[in-house]
Amino acid sequence: MKKVLVTGGLGFIGSHTAVELLAKGYEVVLADNLANTRPDVLDGIERIAGKRPEWVNVDLADQQQCGEFLAAHPDFDGIIHFAAFKAVGESVDKPLDYYQNNLGSLCLLLQYLRGRPECAFIFSSSCTVYGQADELPVSEGAPVKPAESPYGNTKQIGEEIIRDGVAAHGFKAIALRYFNPIGAHPTAAIGELPLGVPQNLVPFITQSAAGLRGALKVFGNDYPTSDGTAVRDYIHVVDLAQAHIVAMERMIDGRTAEDFEVFNLGTGQGSTVLEVIKAFERATEQKIDWDFAPRRAGDVIAAYADTKRAAEVLGWRASRSLEEAMGDAWRWQQSLGESDSSGATGGK
Ligand code: UD1
Repeated sequence: MKKVLVTGGLGFIGSHTAVELLAKGYEVVLADNLANTRPDVLDGIERIAGKRPEWVNVDLADQQQCGEFLAAHPDFDGIIHFAAFKAVGESVDKPLDYYQNNLGSLCLLLQYLRGRPECAFIFSSSCTVYGQADELPVSEGAPVKPAESPYGNTKQIGEEIIRDGVAAHGFKAIALRYFNPIGAHPTAAIGELPLGVPQNLVPFITQSAAGLRGALKVFGNDYPTSDGTAVRDYIHVVDLAQAHIVAMERMIDGRTAEDFEVFNLGTGQGSTVLEVIKAFERATEQKIDWDFAPRRAGDVIAAYADTKRAAEVLGWRASRSLEEAMGDAWRWQQSLGESDSSGATGGK
């Protein structure tokens, strides 16, 4: 049985990936220090998968803790690295914490790969590396633009660190650049747990519909798009989770064409903010209160993925619709108690 480490394994995307790995028969070890999630996510994973993976509470950015953890697990066949801070606004206020946490843990994990070239490494990157791309849909060949935030910079620098490590030390890696992950597991046993007031669109919508927040502010109505609101590519988290396994298996089976590969993960479909609201209302028969508000600093006009490379090279395509994601996000929201929703941590 192949053994896979999922860092940030109790987070939003990590927990969904753990479920998919367990379903495929992998032995799964989760590393998570609960910086932004809760231990009962493990119960949700177990409820879906029928198995409880090993979970180690370890701070991977701490050299001693990370070293001890990895020394105790010398035999991973793959590492899927999600663990990172990810709040854009917070990263502006605490840039050094972001660099230390996100890049420190990355370097320590890459050190493990030295001398273990057979261990697959998957890095959680973001379409934020493209900024406002000059051409849409955005392909992997689009230039990386200066980052808008320290968070975005940790993804860009992270990719560069990996590229240099691969060139010098002979291990292999794949970076997956996500567009906008949303939704929850269809069982409603795991999902996104945003801390405090959600900054991202879909958790705000579900909390607003649940009566936990006021009206949604739609940031900007004068973008050059079909209805004046910004366009994003919203991808169901289960589709995203499955792509990680496809990418990892490509590495484990020795099918990579280059030692460091990059793939966009999106649906290829752009949706405006107003279209997202309508999709939610259709999927759930709930009504969303919303008002227009000024543009949000740092937002791009439009971003959606060119999915050709992922389809042709990985053989992977997203298959779940925006409505499906909205229905799943809503069922997850409803499964949370009120105190859970307003005070919980975790997330995207
Ligand atoms: C954000 C981050 C991005 C990060 C991604 C995943 C910014 C500028 N970008 O992407 O770096 O990789 O999350 O964590 O924060 N919107 C509203 N009202 C709201 C919230 C959002 O109208 O209350 C709009 C936004 O203006 C945007 C769209 O909804 O047009 C999606 O926003 P969001 O979910 O925050 O994702 P991104 O900004 O695309």
